[in-house]
Amino acid sequence: MRNAFGRRFDVPDTYLNTASIGIPPDDAADAVADAVRAWRTGAGRPADFDAPVATARAAWARLVGVPVGRVAIGATVSGLLSTVAAALPPRSRVLVAAGEFTSVTWPFAARGHELTEVPLDGIGARAAEFDAVAVSVVQSADGRIVDLDALRAARASGTRVVLDTTQATGWLDADLGWADAVACGAYKWLLSPRGAAWLAVHPGWDPPAEQAGWFAGEQVWDSVYGLPLRLAAGARSLDTSPAWLSHVGAAVALPWLAGLDRAAVHAHCTGLADALRAGLGMEPAGSAIVAVRTPDAQRRLDAAGVVGAARAGAARLAFHLYNTRADVDAALEALT
Ligand SMILES: Cc1ncc(COP(=O)(O)O)c(C=O)c1O
Repeated sequence: MRNAFGRRFDVPDTYLNTASIGIPPDDAADAVADAVRAWRTGAGRPADFDAPVATARAAWARLVGVPVGRVAIGATVSGLLSTVAAALPPRSRVLVAAGEFTSVTWPFAARGHELTEVPLDGIGARAAEFDAVAVSVVQSADGRIVDLDALRAARASGTRVVLDTTQATGWLDADLGWADAVACGAYKWLLSPRGAAWLAVHPGWDPPAEQAGWFAGEQVWDSVYGLPLRLAAGARSLDTSPAWLSHVGAAVALPWLAGLDRAAVHAHCTGLADALRAGLGMEPAGSAIVAVRTPDAQRRLDAAGVVGAARAGAARLAFHLYNTRADVDAALEALT
């Protein structure tokens, strides 16, 4: 059991795998367990979940720095980005990063857009040549951070900027309200169950409601039967029906995360990651994710019981709020 930033976590020692699955604060896991208990005893009612959906949506908006009215809910990043891909003109030219997580690129490829892959550090310089850029703010495979200032400048010249913050929101101190679209999943750095995801859309853009259902209605509980189509105004028209239990957990974890000192969170996570890098003779990188490429790294970590993930030929280690200097030392002992 660990205490961190005012919450308790049932996280084991040397769990450095938040980039795969984040561990919930106890009270978030308890809320989900209570909802499961209500479900199994017939005490749950559909409308009970409206409040958690609204609470989590508002907290996510705060974390990303956008007004809540611009935020749609979904279940997966790929689902939300499919809606974004559908909103681009046919055969748009879309710039992506080589080695990008496929939930970011495939929705655009599957829609028939023309994708160009360049190394991540070339994205900012090339962006203005394209109709759109779709990129993770923090790369899943190795934690590298895209040049957000360059993307913002490209946007001013007309390129649509689509960001995935699944590996960023929860530790990276950045306001992203300027981007055309920001998509994010709940189950990593936001320490919530899988099944909740959010999409922020810039007010200058109005993607069509590709997946419209009852939850996208103006009055949700008056939208369950019959025509005509009566969609909500704004981003809520892009809502898909909530995975209820996921939002119950997110409604506890996200308000707590959104209320923390963002700079302190950022400093904690990147401080630990850069301490690991220093111990391995690597330059600081200012990311909470470290890719260790030394021979045998993954085998050594496995043997020592340090939990990370093998990704793209490296051992990936991730540092969140519940991690400590002792976790860094254990990883260093395994690796050196
Ligand atoms: C950058 C990034 N985006 C998205 C996802 C998940 O995508 P989806 O919600 O489509 O499964 C992950 C999961 O590892 C990820 O690392």
